[in-house]
Order: sequence, then C-alpha cells, then structure tokens
Amino acid sequence: MRNISYDNITETVVRAYSGAEDARTKEIVTLLIQRLHDFVREVELTPREWEAAIGVLTRAAAITDEERNEFILLSDLLGVSALVDLVDGHHDEGASMTTLMGPFYVPGTPELPNGADLTGDNDGERIVVYGQIRKTDDTPLGGAKIEVWQNAPNGLYTVQDPGQAEHNLRATLRADENGNYVFATAKPIPYQVPEDSAGGELIRAGSRHCWRPAHIHLMITAQGCKRHISQIFDLNDPYIDEDAVFGVRSDLAVPYDQQPSEDELSRFHGIQQPFNITHVDFVLAGD
Ligand SMILES: [Fe+2]
Repeated sequence: MRNISYDNITETVVRAYSGAEDARTKEIVTLLIQRLHDFVREVELTPREWEAAIGVLTRAAAITDEERNEFILLSDLLGVSALVDLVDGHHDEGASMTTLMGPFYVPGTPELPNGADLTGDNDGERIVVYGQIRKTDDTPLGGAKIEVWQNAPNGLYTVQDPGQAEHNLRATLRADENGNYVFATAKPIPYQVPEDSAGGELIRAGSRHCWRPAHIHLMITAQGCKRHISQIFDLNDPYIDEDAVFGVRSDLAVPYDQQPSEDELSRFHGIQQPFNITHVDFVLAGD
C-alpha cells in the first residue's frame, strides 16, 4: 500500500488488522482505530501536540513499577476506570453499585474474626462499620469474604509508608451465617493522588485538584456471586462531590458521624467506646 492519503488511511489501517483471529480482539481493535483516527481529524492534532502526548506517556512509563502504576492513575483521572466499572455493573439489576479498586489492594491479608477492631495504635475517631451482605434475591451470603483496606491518619496506605505495620488498617473478615459483618476502625481521611508525574500534569492542565474524599475500600467475594468491589465514602467529606477519580456513588456515601443507638451499643458491646456508626448493606449480583 503506497497511496496512503488523508481520506483512505483509516480504512487501510483497519484492513491491516482484519486478519485478527479472535473476534472480540478484531471488534475492539477496529473500533479503536476508527475512533482514534476520528479524534485526530476532529481536533486536527498537530505534530507538536502528538509529541507532547507521547511525552506524557513516556514519563508515566518511567515512574511505573511494581508498587506504582501511573497508567492506572491516568485511566482513573480520565474517568475510564470508573466507566469500565459502570459498564460492568450496568445490567446487575438490584445489586449495590460497585466502584474502583484503586492501586493499594494487596491480596492475602490475614483473616481476623468478624467484629475485629482494626484501630490499633492509630489516632483518630473510632467508627464501627456494619451491615448485611446478601444476594439480589435477598438470600443472606453467610461466610462471604470481606477484604478491607484504608489509609492511616497520615493519609497514607501501608504500601506507601514504611513507617506503618505491614497490615495496618487492613483485614480479611467473614460474614456470619446471616450475612452480617461488623468491624471497627480509625476514621479514614481525604488524601491526594500522586501529582508528581504524568497524572499531575493532567490534573494541572485541567486546573483540577487531586483530592479523594475519605473512604474505606472493600472487596467482597461469595460463592455464586460476581466479585464486588466497593468503597464506603464519608458523606460529609469536603470532597464528596469532586472526587479526583470519579469513584463516588450516591448509595456508597454514608455519614461517618452517627451516634450509636442503644441497640447498636448493646450489639457491639465488645468494641471499645466511644465510637460512631456507619451502616452499609451490600447486595451482590449473581455471577
Ligand atoms: Fe483509596
């Protein structure tokens, strides 16, 4: 092919990939080429702008390693991670909304008993988080596995901070036979996503900020259900409506400052007082 032109290049490139053996790969690559070419034509991207974009990706690659992935951050900051999750849950009628996993999940956190207090020697207010895990048909998911992780009062996750114990403010719990779970923890705080590389360039280009509202991450797995990734957000956080990575969902934004009722005080009598209460149920979609 030597007569490539403004008018025929898209069709030519699509044809070059038309031999893809996997039908889904072919579908994705074809549409990706068409939309990318449309984008370049529509904004009339200049060579200088293209070099600048490659520069952003090059700096993202340079800072990416096993503990930090700048490409995930770029995807988060552009709302693509959120959209992929929303597409995945779009047809899960009756299920709780899911949200982003984020970059700080570590598998294999040791199991603690349901009702555990993760607070340890962390400062900050103690909150008790509880609720029920069930399926969309209302069946309680007894024995559901709940992995929890969050930041410490200095705003950092354990994987970012060698000063913290390896499993600080993380745990794996199991719901009881009625699907009920409960744990106590130190109230998380808002934090900033890293702004010292490509993600920061994007944030500054858009005159945005890089704050995330305070949240607790959860990953829930139960037999016969889709893996459920969630975050519980502090409804009264100053950044609740402007999460840098678009992760907040209305039914996951709950108050962190509710006083416990008499009933809750007696149900959770084993947990050190004082504490506030956060109540969230999770409804999982079938797999
Ligand atoms: Fe987080």
